[in-house]
Amino acid sequence: MGKKGREIVGLDIEDLVNSLNQALANEWQSFYQYWLAAHVVTGEGALGLSEQLRKIALQEMDHADELAKRILQLGGMPLTNPREWAAAASCAYVEPPENPADLKQIIKDGADAEVCAIEFYNKLANKVFNKDSVTYQIVVRLLAQEVEQEDAFDDMLPR
Ligand SMILES: [Fe+2]
Repeated sequence: MGKKGREIVGLDIEDLVNSLNQALANEWQSFYQYWLAAHVVTGEGALGLSEQLRKIALQEMDHADELAKRILQLGGMPLTNPREWAAAASCAYVEPPENPADLKQIIKDGADAEVCAIEFYNKLANKVFNKDSVTYQIVVRLLAQEVEQEDAFDDMLPR
């Protein structure tokens, strides 16, 4: 990254890169959780849910793109091995329910993952506010999308 671009960051850059890698691990875990659920879900309503899960999974991959770009700009390195994801992530990875026709559980697990992501990005936004405006605008954009995703999962829950 350009020298000036790093100079203006009013935070410990290594610590910031660690936080962004934590976010990256969360995103890949969410991607895989939704992507896998989209494949295994079965039964009534499975097709619609599968499409939604896939769409949200791809949004998480876009988030991973944005995070990786920012990490590299800061002179850091995105996590180089998927083995690191579980240890780095701040949110839990949840396997599909034993019964792949349990749509309600799949949706609930998705909503829980979004709640965790929202909490994480909200904290990170506060941490970088007024310290690193570039990271701030990325984090706020991701936060807004996680809020939309939580909403989408909530709307899918049968009432
Ligand atoms: Fe998400």
